[in-house]
Amino acid sequence: MQTNVDEISTGIYRLSTCIPEIAPGGFTFNQFLVDADEPLLYHTGMRALFPLVRGAIEKVMPVERLRWIAFSHIEADECGAANEFLEVAPQAQVMHGALGCMLSLNDQLSREPRPLADGEVIDLGGRRVVEVATPHVPHNWESHMLFEQETGTLFCGDLLSQTGDGPAVTSDSIRDAAIATEQLFMQTSMGPAVPATYRRIADLEPHRLAIMHGSSYDGDCAPLLREMADVYEQQFGCSGALAGATV
Ligand SMILES: [Fe+2]
Ligand SMILES: [Fe+2]
Repeated sequence: MQTNVDEISTGIYRLSTCIPEIAPGGFTFNQFLVDADEPLLYHTGMRALFPLVRGAIEKVMPVERLRWIAFSHIEADECGAANEFLEVAPQAQVMHGALGCMLSLNDQLSREPRPLADGEVIDLGGRRVVEVATPHVPHNWESHMLFEQETGTLFCGDLLSQTGDGPAVTSDSIRDAAIATEQLFMQTSMGPAVPATYRRIADLEPHRLAIMHGSSYDGDCAPLLREMADVYEQQFGCSGALAGATV
């Protein structure tokens, strides 16, 4: 097993490990490294991947430089190695939506996390990321995303997952592959928050989607996200109005 490193946008690196057994053609686990004055690692990978992911980071920068660690939600592939990275990067701190800090991370992390309010901007020094709360989408109450403003890169976690070991980034349509992968795993918590969230993140007009499993996408992102909102409504039954909470 190896971890490939590709610069998918200026100063944004995709660290990708394909595990063959999980799906036909394999299934990739991707972390993203944002090179800034205060470098950010988005997703840590599972603890078992820690040596590989650490080695991949070291191809770009010393791991001790990491200042921020973030991940979309609390599962092993997103954040299993968070404490391992906090150990080797003494200045690093996890940033996460305040809800996730309160629910889990204040307890689970070896160092206190930095809670984020929805819409809050964090200046990484040369890069700025915006907190986008996405509760229950694609799954887990504490889910959130980060949007990097300079390159228009949306770190969208498990959304639009694809099986196989495709190119690091593609502008070819990933719609059908994403639907097929959803049908295979049924990973999304199907409910009215799903289409509403896809439409909300489309309104950010991202230039690039940094996807956790599969190729990143730099085609027409907003139309794809709106089309997927329709797919989740019509094909997967995520219809109905959201009562009470806003997303
Ligand atoms: Fe997940
Ligand atoms: Fe994942």
